[in-house]
Amino acid sequence: MKLAFFDSGIGGLSVLHHAMKLLPNEEFIFFADEDNVPYGTKSRAEVLKFVDDAFKFLTAQNVSAIVVACNTATSVAVRDMRKKYSLPIIGMEPALKVALDTFPGKKVLVAATAITVTGEKIRRLIERLHAQELTELKALSELVDFAERCEFNSADVENYLRAELSGVDFKNFSSLVLGCTHFNYFKDTLRKILPPHVKILDGNSGTVNELIRRTNLQPARSKKFPDVKFFYSGRRVTDSAELERLETFLRRLDEMEALT
Ligand code: DGL
Repeated sequence: MKLAFFDSGIGGLSVLHHAMKLLPNEEFIFFADEDNVPYGTKSRAEVLKFVDDAFKFLTAQNVSAIVVACNTATSVAVRDMRKKYSLPIIGMEPALKVALDTFPGKKVLVAATAITVTGEKIRRLIERLHAQELTELKALSELVDFAERCEFNSADVENYLRAELSGVDFKNFSSLVLGCTHFNYFKDTLRKILPPHVKILDGNSGTVNELIRRTNLQPARSKKFPDVKFFYSGRRVTDSAELERLETFLRRLDEMEALT
């Protein structure tokens, strides 16, 4: 089956990376909107237009499902895309429910982009889970630029995160939920800064499980590297330096996978 993964940039590779391991026999298209990244600091109208353009391209590729591997695009545009197209569209949802179910009564910090933390979608999720008292939101938009520059654990990254998280009293928090797919690249730096009892949770397995459920695919065990075609804003990536850049991200994700 041909499956599309879409993100503003290379954050969605973290969801693709998870899917490639569970579904090694499928065919993947990865669309990074490199011309327009970052989305998280733009207006909602701009993001809606970018997502609309990406969907026009992806739905013309004969794919069976589209994973919006971007919390920001999900927050702004997934509803409109579902109204417009009938194929399965799987969005990202911050793993807030998992955090609250695993650590009842403990607070959760959800980190995401500026658009996501101020959006209706996250507000509705918090309300649905009756988690107003237990949830705090934090925009860490600059991590997107660091990730796009392949800058994962420099002193600047660490200083930025220390400064942004310095106001949080983590004593009553069980976990940090990564509500932006670009944040998966920083698990080691976050692990260095967060107290050991604070777990780092991402939404990747929830999204891929939902993809499997919606497509009726069977997870398979294999070391095979599946067929993946990469696109930057609709242009096929064939340049060896760019393909090497993407490999660097996938290797980084291998390293980050075990960190929680
Ligand atoms: N990867 C994205 C997300 O999950 C968006 C980052 C951005 O472009 O600002 O929210």
